[in-house]
Amino acid sequence: MKKLLADSFHNDPRVAQAKQLILDALADHQAKLDGVRPPDADFKAQHEQAVERFSQLRGGKLFYPYIASGLGKGALVELADGSIKYDFITGIGVHGWGHCHPDMVEAGIDAALRDTIMQGNLQQGAQSAALSQKLIDAARENGSRLEHCFLTTSGAMANENALKLAFHHKAPANRVLAFERCFMGRSLALAQITDKPAYRVGLPQTVAVDYVPFFDSNQPKESTELALKTLRSHLARYPGQHAVMSFELVQGEGGYYPGDHDFFVALMDELKAHGVLVMADEIQTFGRTTRLFAFQHFGIDQYVDVVTIGKLSQVCATFFTDALKPKPGLISQTFTGSTSSIFAASKIIDGLLHGGYFGQDGKITRLHDHFVSRLEAIADRHPGAVAGPFGIGGMIAFTPFDGALETVKKAIFALYDAGVIAFLAGSGPYRVRFLMPIGAVTTDDIDAVCQIIEDTLPGLASNDNS
Ligand SMILES: Cc1ncc(COP(=O)(O)O)c(C=O)c1O
Repeated sequence: MKKLLADSFHNDPRVAQAKQLILDALADHQAKLDGVRPPDADFKAQHEQAVERFSQLRGGKLFYPYIASGLGKGALVELADGSIKYDFITGIGVHGWGHCHPDMVEAGIDAALRDTIMQGNLQQGAQSAALSQKLIDAARENGSRLEHCFLTTSGAMANENALKLAFHHKAPANRVLAFERCFMGRSLALAQITDKPAYRVGLPQTVAVDYVPFFDSNQPKESTELALKTLRSHLARYPGQHAVMSFELVQGEGGYYPGDHDFFVALMDELKAHGVLVMADEIQTFGRTTRLFAFQHFGIDQYVDVVTIGKLSQVCATFFTDALKPKPGLISQTFTGSTSSIFAASKIIDGLLHGGYFGQDGKITRLHDHFVSRLEAIADRHPGAVAGPFGIGGMIAFTPFDGALETVKKAIFALYDAGVIAFLAGSGPYRVRFLMPIGAVTTDDIDAVCQIIEDTLPGLASNDNS
């Protein structure tokens, strides 16, 4: 059979040999990463200068003095100060396969052997098409009406595209519905919808938003009634003016509050009755529940009109039904992803779908249960020190002590110094949250991290937050 020149190159035995050599060298060097290590005094001054210089260059302090050295193994990562830490936040949910996973290194090498670094609207490689097909097939598995998948480079851009499709379809409707405490991203429009005043200081108003309270698992019936009542009053106040309601099915930045099937269905039925589109923002939930998409986990496949993904998926994307197909020119992008991110995405999606991650007894649930049981044991041994744990699947959080912002900040910096990278979420109470690398983490890693959490707690007990 006739072969393309590219196929001959990519299948050249020298390429396979070179790749194997690199992977062998990687494994040898990774073997030395065997646990948490404090910073090395020899790198201290140089590292501090690099962090300071970088902060100046970017016009704002780095949250952590984190600059990677470029080597890691699974959940462990070496930093430029010589320290080795457990990465249990993974760039806020991005590095799901951890650090230097051989599959990711291989994806990077394969991508480097393609003709371009980026793929874009005008010039795509076959892998972008194959990835879009893979994602659409998975999204339609339980009968969703999603037929199209537009790749992009950030969660914010995926959400912008989703809103544009919704407004375009529902013109002249010009309002959006969203949940209180939602986070959608940091573009001008999304900063308006994100329910956090500090994130839109000084920004002009771009979209009109009406907020609905979220589900409260302690009061399922009452919170559903309240949300429905609020939604109805917005719909009545602005008849025909809402294009779409955005659903963050598990509130992420808001503090790891999962929703509920009946709650969502009650609201979505009302929206459908008023011709308002249903959008699911899955940028943080994608690949972290018992199904690839959280809309599948919550069994609301037939309701979603537009869905966005990001973070763990390496590429971001907007899925939409055929009815929302835009006229030419509405959405377009110079680049839709780097070739390496598209190759990595493909491996991660295959890994998630075929690696036993999903279902009630899948790897994600087992990792979740293990982590949660360890945190519960810590909570039992230290009354008043740990509330929770909270969350779902690969999204786990706890509240230390009073949950005040200063307490939680103190906790995450103390954990960082002790060798665990976490982050905060929520707002009064704030929470310490984890997005562990589900494709690389082991129960031994979780045990080691929980030991560090337990050892760190006593130092947080004082009211001295200085
Ligand atoms: C639910 C949700 N939507 C949108 C975004 C924005 O994604 P990005 O930071 O890639 O623009 C995030 C990021 O944290 C998110 O959690």
